[in-house]
Amino acid sequence: MHELHAVATHLVGSGRGILAADESVKTMSIRLNAEGIAASPTARRDYRELLPTAPDLAASISGIILCDETFNDSLADGTPFPQACRARGILPGIKVDTGTSRLPGGGGATVTEGLDGLGARLATYAASGAAFAKWRAAIDIATATDLVLEANAHALARYAALCQEHGIVPIVEPEVLCGGGHTIGDCAETTSRALTMLFDQLDRQRVDLAGIVLKPNMVTPGLHAPAASPAEVAAATNAVLRATVPDHVPGIAFLSGGHAPLEACRYLLASNAVAPTPPWHLTFSFGRALVNDALHAWQGQKANIRVAQDALLLNCANAAAARAESSELVRR
Ligand code: G3H
Repeated sequence: MHELHAVATHLVGSGRGILAADESVKTMSIRLNAEGIAASPTARRDYRELLPTAPDLAASISGIILCDETFNDSLADGTPFPQACRARGILPGIKVDTGTSRLPGGGGATVTEGLDGLGARLATYAASGAAFAKWRAAIDIATATDLVLEANAHALARYAALCQEHGIVPIVEPEVLCGGGHTIGDCAETTSRALTMLFDQLDRQRVDLAGIVLKPNMVTPGLHAPAASPAEVAAATNAVLRATVPDHVPGIAFLSGGHAPLEACRYLLASNAVAPTPPWHLTFSFGRALVNDALHAWQGQKANIRVAQDALLLNCANAAAARAESSELVRR
């Protein structure tokens, strides 16, 4: 267990954060196509290669979450992605859920799949160098009944227990979706219920909380509602976390949830400035808020790689700076 504690603390406690680059093949292809880049295994590989190879990415990034396609792929020079990450001082992680499906009786809500055969897959990933894993539950406020929250929390806890059995730190992600017009109070209420259910299931399934990383949403109004100030988001987020997350969880790495890069960083900055100091490390495991600018700058062209990497590095540096309450964020 000591190794799990050490890895979990390393991921969240080194003044850095986690880069979520684990979009499924389908999602990644949609994002490439949206930028006018023809999606293909080579295009996905070339794009994903520019992320860990950005010069000194490890200054702000402790771990990178990969999808199965990338985890089993190699850079153009033949180095497998997991090894290439480790060689650059970044721990490789693997998304192991297989997506969502409709939950019977859930009123249109989903449950996340991927438990069948997961133990064997984790053993293979561990042998290939995975230090940590990720599983995401997607919770829509409109359908977040106790049945839905319990089914998703149960799956998250089973996944987490299996990860720990295989020496892999589980990132546990109960994402209350940010889309929609809900209020910050609605988000607080659902996030609070989701986290309460989650920690109950983690406890029942004997998960060692010192060897996990929690990856929740920040507590915000819906993306189509009037925005709240960073101070309001920080106060609401801290109140929910303090009421639901045990102190011995080493760290909380927020997802960005569709918020713009600077906005997500301002929320994190304000959360780290709330008094008294939170008992956990508060950091980031952003996806879109770190990589969207890079993908847009790249355009599928070799000549744009450096410009794309600079966009990524700036977003990562801002996110890492948002871990310290007195930092200044830099605008592009
Ligand atoms: O599962 C979601 C990702 O890991 C985080 O993505 O920051 O774009 O919401 P996001």
